[in-house]
Amino acid sequence: MALQSNPAWQAFSDAVQAAHADPEQLRLIEAGQLTVDLSAQRDSQTLRDAAIELLSVAGFEQARHALFEGGIANLSENRPALHTALRSSHAPESVRSLITAQLERMKRFVDDANTYNRYSNVVHLGIGGSDWGPRMVWHSLKGVSNRRTLRFAANIDAHAITAALDGLDPRDTLIIVASKSFTTTETMTNAREAIKWLEHGGIKHPLNQVVALTANPAAAIEFGVAPERIFEFWDWVGGRYSIWSTIGLPVALGLGWTTFEELLQGARDMDTHFQTAAIAHNAPVQLALNMVANTSILGFSSEVICPYDARLTDFVPWLQQLQMESLGKAVDQQGNPIDVSVSPAVWGMPGTDSQHTFFQWLHQSQRGAPVDFIFCIEPEHHLLSHHRQLVANCLAQRAALWRGKSVEVSFQELKHKHDESHAQWLAQHCLHPGGRPSTLIVLPKLDAHRLGALLALYEHKVFVAGVLWGLNPFDQWGVEFGKRLALELMQNDPEQTKDFDASTRHWLASLMRVTSKNH
Ligand code: F6P
Repeated sequence: MALQSNPAWQAFSDAVQAAHADPEQLRLIEAGQLTVDLSAQRDSQTLRDAAIELLSVAGFEQARHALFEGGIANLSENRPALHTALRSSHAPESVRSLITAQLERMKRFVDDANTYNRYSNVVHLGIGGSDWGPRMVWHSLKGVSNRRTLRFAANIDAHAITAALDGLDPRDTLIIVASKSFTTTETMTNAREAIKWLEHGGIKHPLNQVVALTANPAAAIEFGVAPERIFEFWDWVGGRYSIWSTIGLPVALGLGWTTFEELLQGARDMDTHFQTAAIAHNAPVQLALNMVANTSILGFSSEVICPYDARLTDFVPWLQQLQMESLGKAVDQQGNPIDVSVSPAVWGMPGTDSQHTFFQWLHQSQRGAPVDFIFCIEPEHHLLSHHRQLVANCLAQRAALWRGKSVEVSFQELKHKHDESHAQWLAQHCLHPGGRPSTLIVLPKLDAHRLGALLALYEHKVFVAGVLWGLNPFDQWGVEFGKRLALELMQNDPEQTKDFDASTRHWLASLMRVTSKNH
């Protein structure tokens, strides 16, 4: 997509370059009970006008309508992307009854498990989009006293499955096998291991303690899971957008059905905001415009996510998959090369840990990166002094990135402690360039409703960026090649591996030999 030669893109680019983040301007957007503060992002009337024109030229309104109505949003796989229908009170006719039926089955399963006090342990096996959603929601919302213990195993590295099963009572453990394709090597290998563990634990019919969450029920049946223990979703739900589907079953089992419903409700509220708010007051659209400006125009190659809440540790990898698997493309929906920089790398860590890990880089490295600060007003503890310090640090770091500190100001501070020439020299090391963009997202508290809204906010940000860059945010062809090569290497057959490079052949010979010797 030749964006550079597009007059609307050029106007947007010029406006971004000319704009700045005015410290006297407070720019807040209320969206689904969240408050999004864009004050530390560039803004001007010219930029707002150029953004509206760019969205119009990119066909944003039509694309948004098609997303919610089931149009083909995923061209390369010729599919809709109807994750919003999973939480909608008026899903498109074509899918409404399917969704309702699975929700009712999920609820019945959870009610039965609660009524008969089944499964004090749940081991969730899944990877990528079949893992990060439930894992992140569980770790974000689990309190001290939960109805069940949830454990997660994703990796093929068996340290994960052994740790997940360690010390659990097989008689009272449910194994959830979550896989859209029901073919993913890691998940199927871990599932077989978990079934062996149940058998070793004396369980006569281990598959009676297994449920499958999948868009491939035929494969789950072939695997041995009884149809009544298969909870379906569909190929029009992207894996990384699937927490709203039956992939949410562990959340409902661990945190209660009401919590799962509140998660859907929060996302539904954000969907309404996204569908109805004017461009200038539309939080997902503004987040996307800022990302496009920061990445394609201002040249930032990454985005940093700093939730100032230790409970949101898994939010970072959840967002890494959502944003990088969706936008990590070099061609547009038609397969043509994209001629601007797209898709910043996403990384991060909760504050204040992050301050003592990489904020030196954010403050003083040559470029730094835009930061999303996420803050929850009301904590789930009573240590107010801790919380006040958390508030102060979150706001202070954001202000420091924005305001900066000149050599002169540093010198004025240092000259009282050092002789003039040393102070002059040291002041060079204390320069903070400033003008570093950030967004602050504030939640009244971290509960299922607001977390649902937060996840949907980022889902729609990614969608809008896909529209602006003209790429397909719903496919992921790039993940297949490495998987295929792994399967070839697993054959460990020299005939199969002769085309690999010398280094791979060398290590294959030595590493595979080790594994075969010890086992
Ligand atoms: O390899 C990437 C991926 O295909 C993701 O898109 C997906 O979320 C994950 O693997 C797991 O896939 P599945 O749910 O089919 O097991």
